[in-house]
Amino acid sequence: MPPVETTSATTQEIAALSLKDKVLKVQPLQRNHSLDVLYKSFKVQPHIGTEFEAGIQIRDILKSANADDLIRDFAVLVSQRNVVFLRNQDLTFTEQKEFIERLGRAAGKPATSGLHAHPTTDPTSELGEHALVISSEEARKYGNIYSSRGELASLAWHSDITFEPVPSDYAALKIIKSPPEGGDTLWASAYEIYDRLSPSFRTFLEGLTATHTGENFHKLAQAGLTTLNPGPRGAPENVGLALEAVHPVIRTNPVTGWKGVFANKVFTKRINELSKDESDLVLDHLFNLGTQNHDLHVRFRWNPNDIAIWDNRSSFHTATTDFDFDKYERYGERATSLGERPYFDANSVSRREGLGIAPPASRRAHLASLAANATA
Ligand SMILES: [Fe+2]
Repeated sequence: MPPVETTSATTQEIAALSLKDKVLKVQPLQRNHSLDVLYKSFKVQPHIGTEFEAGIQIRDILKSANADDLIRDFAVLVSQRNVVFLRNQDLTFTEQKEFIERLGRAAGKPATSGLHAHPTTDPTSELGEHALVISSEEARKYGNIYSSRGELASLAWHSDITFEPVPSDYAALKIIKSPPEGGDTLWASAYEIYDRLSPSFRTFLEGLTATHTGENFHKLAQAGLTTLNPGPRGAPENVGLALEAVHPVIRTNPVTGWKGVFANKVFTKRINELSKDESDLVLDHLFNLGTQNHDLHVRFRWNPNDIAIWDNRSSFHTATTDFDFDKYERYGERATSLGERPYFDANSVSRREGLGIAPPASRRAHLASLAANATA
């Protein structure tokens, strides 16, 4: 029988204590728990997703006397849990934009990073340039372009706008019309994907960068289905129509100080320091870890006026197009905050290391054999 349990609580406690001495480029933020005094929430899954019970309204938080404390606590909660759900929100899009912008500010984003103007959003549209409309009607219009990617639903996993040099820290999506069944969104934890890598493979990845491109948007424009906004798109760095950026493969989240895999199926095209074949091999493995491990996912069933707020630095998501587009409409509005330029901090840690909890069950036998070999 192989050894199954290798990491004692004592070893983990020592690891957690030793991490406190590390000096990070950006000091992680701690929760002040001001939200918990007022509102009840629960973990939807052990490693990802928190949902608030009925009674919380973002509008009340914005108007609260201690709004700054509450918003800061909210930002840390989102960064730690990847995604937070709030049901039945009475909130205008202007208030939604204000909240997501303040969330990013509270978490310390650069002064030059504002709200994203998506390259496909018409700046003169009703909601303005800082809105991204998520619509089954539009999806139907764009269907031929997007469906050319292949038959696997998992091909659509992504984090938002990583083709921008300054991508998103937080995003808020309010679904206003939803089908009676279907149309769920799934999120995956990039922290947890990193926690499933072997120590040597982590070290290898930490020196690498990848190129991200928004080539599908070019295809839409070439097909005459959209006009691209040359920017600046919410930050001075996000300008021009290349829609291409280079980012580290392993990214540190400044709010938590935790590492995550920052490569996604839709936008990440190539690991720059590797040959094309090597890059495909490594990216496929990273994508498979994120899409085939449903124990690092959370799935949300939308009702009208529900809001999800997520940290794009450390999570991936995908919508489910399983409902009849001819019969039902799914319509939502997203406001997207821009954060910092992605970076890797060698002193940052994995989420499980940071929390002092055992490695994933699937990793323990392998780590035990490594430890046994090291001491033999
Ligand atoms: Fe998205």
